[in-house]
Amino acid sequence: MNSQNNGIRRNEMEIVFDAIARNESFARVAVAAFVTHLNPTLEELADVKTAVSEAVTNAIIHGYENYEGCGVHGEKPAARTAEHPGKVRLQCVLEGDVIHIEVEDKGKGIEDLEKAMEPLFTTRPELDRSGMGFSFMEAFMDDLDVKSEPGKGTLVRMMKKLGTTAWIECEE
Ligand SMILES: Nc1ncnc2c1ncn2[C@@H]1O[C@H](COP(=O)(O)OP(=O)(O)OP(=O)(O)O)[C@@H](O)[C@H]1O
Ligand SMILES: [Mg+2]
Repeated sequence: MNSQNNGIRRNEMEIVFDAIARNESFARVAVAAFVTHLNPTLEELADVKTAVSEAVTNAIIHGYENYEGCGVHGEKPAARTAEHPGKVRLQCVLEGDVIHIEVEDKGKGIEDLEKAMEPLFTTRPELDRSGMGFSFMEAFMDDLDVKSEPGKGTLVRMMKKLGTTAWIECEE
């Protein structure tokens, strides 16, 4: 790595969006677009998109308990539909060819994090959840760290090295 380039090799973006189901695809595509100039392989791109999708979906359906009431399974709007949905914060930091991603909600938080991260553990079997979200994040990214506090929210941090070494030096 050329240390002289360290300054310009960092690139950051942050978006905050409503915690509603249709924004899950928006988040996935936003992250993919952000890393495109690194020319990631299709597999790397799919891995990152899946991990983001799982974390954002969790924020929406678990963190905020799908306030919109018309979530992934089209259930009838709940009484609380009138409430404004919470916000999800998505931050991406590129350091060279490593992407650091944070997905944060200020929702209900996780009581037992250790249990929640076990494969096949879900608190929402009635929504056909399979309890594999955290396992996918772990499998598809190089590192996963989750902090959560009941009543306060959840912060998911993950990182992945994208297999490219060529930083496209076309920036002015
Ligand atoms: N952001 C969050 N806020 C509150 N609880 C969460 C959050 N993310 C995960 N959880 C809890 O952790 C459990 C496990 O999450 P995980 O993503 O592994 O499985 P799932 O979402 O239940 O199922 P799947 O992701 O396979 O559809 C969830 O059932 C939920 O109880
Ligand atoms: Mg999940």
